[in-house]
Amino acid sequence: MAYSEEVLEHYENPRNVGKMDDSDIHIGTGMVGAPACGDVMRLQIKVNDDGIIEDAKFKTYGCGSAIASSSLVTEWVKGMTLDQAAALKNTQIAEQLALPPVKIHCSVLAEDAIKAAVEDYKKKQSV
Ligand code: FES
Ligand code: FES
Repeated sequence: MAYSEEVLEHYENPRNVGKMDDSDIHIGTGMVGAPACGDVMRLQIKVNDDGIIEDAKFKTYGCGSAIASSSLVTEWVKGMTLDQAAALKNTQIAEQLALPPVKIHCSVLAEDAIKAAVEDYKKKQSV
């Protein structure tokens, strides 16, 4: 299948690949899998005391579109509030990357991962 220029660009130069210390209270971790294909994505956010996401990292075991989707999301969420990040829609990702219909679930994975990371962060603050 043909990948869009932007997917290839993120695939070849992924932004923010890595791992942050999950025991840190400022870090939220989202780990999600796609039942359709078995691909797995870990997305982490680091939130400052003003509730702003100041850093994000990801590791994706999956296809080019999933890697590009998570790379793009880590770029987008930096500087966002938790609510803004949780409101990101997979359709925005799919549109930005010009994903074809069979690759839409790859962008859903990225939306699920950022939501899970925000939830994890919030849960940590309440204990
Ligand atoms: Fe093979 Fe996603 S289906 S990497
Ligand atoms: Fe499953 Fe891309 S093919 S996440």
